[in-house]
Amino acid sequence: MVTSSEGGLLPLGELAPLIAQARAIIGHATRISIFTGAGVSAESGIPTFRDQGGFWTRFPPAQFANWAGLQHLIQKDPLRVAEFVVELLRPILNARPNPAHETIAALEALDKTVTVITQNIDGLHQLAGSTRVIEIHGSVFEVLQTNAGPPIGIRRLQRADLSVTVSELEEFLRTGNSDTARFLHAARSIFGRNSQGFYRPNLVLFGDVLPQDAWQQATAAADTRDCLLVIGTSNLITPASTIPEIARSKGAKIIAIGYDPCPCDVCLRGAAGIILPYVKENK
Ligand code: OAD
Repeated sequence: MVTSSEGGLLPLGELAPLIAQARAIIGHATRISIFTGAGVSAESGIPTFRDQGGFWTRFPPAQFANWAGLQHLIQKDPLRVAEFVVELLRPILNARPNPAHETIAALEALDKTVTVITQNIDGLHQLAGSTRVIEIHGSVFEVLQTNAGPPIGIRRLQRADLSVTVSELEEFLRTGNSDTARFLHAARSIFGRNSQGFYRPNLVLFGDVLPQDAWQQATAAADTRDCLLVIGTSNLITPASTIPEIARSKGAKIIAIGYDPCPCDVCLRGAAGIILPYVKENK
């Protein structure tokens, strides 16, 4: 079952006319731009931010979603920061792409230019096989060398590095010893200081400027008269939320998949991992 654009439950079959419309739009497009949020990874077991039990309901953004707040907490309550980092990383490290990521990756076989603009930091689009992915909010698989000033470089992390970090932070949590130096030792792959200065995860938190290159590529991909798929986002965070506006202002058709209402030409309300395969295949 999925939900209709009015919010009531519909058997998937009753969505057939909307799915047909979405297929026709995709069929006529030469460029397909896809804008994704946390909902696309929900069925891979990664919590969203604002749904019931979402990440920001457990870790208040005023403390956790900005670097000043996190730096303060690392000094005052490193156990709580360790909990935050473990809760952020563990589901991502355990996750596999779901049918929504796989369908998006499979769209590349249609001989069209497919570009994914994602707010997600989990790398699942790439793991599913998408080759043009723009990460506008960064990635947990990268650290940013800042030297306490503007970014001066990005270093890639292996999954294995992050798994070790999660294990060491879990051990730190088990000790229950709220010691900042021990936290920084356990978290040394993602937070610390080296000969070049300071480094931290390459994530865009509240108040940060988006990476310029990624944002330019994202707005270029949204600048289309073809179509934009908006999948699994509450679309509440600027400037990311302007992506659908840019596409709409250029005359693109907007296909939205998810639970929150959003201005669109075709609104498919329900789980992305269930609906998207129907949009691509003649099921
Ligand atoms: P949110 O948590 O705000 O929204 C997730 C959306 O996904 C909601 O609209 C849900 O209804 C929907 N959803 C949940 N499960 C779904 C499913 N199975 N299929 C389809 N949709 C589903 O997450 P985002 O919109 O991604 O930024 O949040 C945007 C940004 O806010 C994040 O990138 C992050 C956060 O603060 C920063 O940290 C800068």
